[in-house]
Amino acid sequence: MKRLVPLGLPLLAALALPINGTARAQDVDAVFDFIPAGGRTLLEKLRAGGLPESLSAAIAGPGADVAAWQETLETARAEAPAIAALDSWEADTLAHYLAWRAPFDAGGGLPRDGRDLSLQLCQSCHIITVVVTQDRTREAWLGTMNSPSHVEIEMSDAERQLLADYLVLNAAIPIDLVPPELRAGGASY
Ligand code: HEC
Repeated sequence: MKRLVPLGLPLLAALALPINGTARAQDVDAVFDFIPAGGRTLLEKLRAGGLPESLSAAIAGPGADVAAWQETLETARAEAPAIAALDSWEADTLAHYLAWRAPFDAGGGLPRDGRDLSLQLCQSCHIITVVVTQDRTREAWLGTMNSPSHVEIEMSDAERQLLADYLVLNAAIPIDLVPPELRAGGASY
């Protein structure tokens, strides 16, 4: 299912920013606030409020598929208000992240999520808008990533799958939610 709720506040914050030569690095990052959080950021926020023991143990455990992570998160809702507060897209985004990334040390630095991968790897040849406004199936995303223009991008197979899952859930952002400075040429590359 697609995210239907406009991300109003982050967008307003991004629009209010003066993007010019003097913009600070964090302001430049803020222009991307309209792109929904990925699993790493979601997990970092949950961690700040204290991860329930069941979730930390599962993250260190043998790994699991998306359905099993959805169930683990559903159970953990009762133990942590911050998990209960995730909307269904966030919970799904986190479940897909954990399916491709876990196990890892839940207390250490977390591996890149789909949003990190797009911002780091998908802006050097074209504007990020080309990516995040597309409404595609998982197969179509994987097809793009295996096309001649994209196959050389340095990502592991698991990262390609993670990015595809992240984009299925979180891309298809309407162009009017994209900050104007990222719209120019948004449909071209
Ligand atoms: C090395 C340069 C390069 C990088 C890096 C790059 N792209 Fe592209 N991208 C292109 C070119 C060239 C086109 C237009 C031609 C084409 O469609 O292959 C394109 C077009 C696209 C399109 C629209 C047309 C299509 O084929 O679906 C999408 C979506 C896309 N890129 C996604 C991505 C994603 C996701 C990433 C990051 C993982 C990325 N791109 C990184 C070169 C790049």
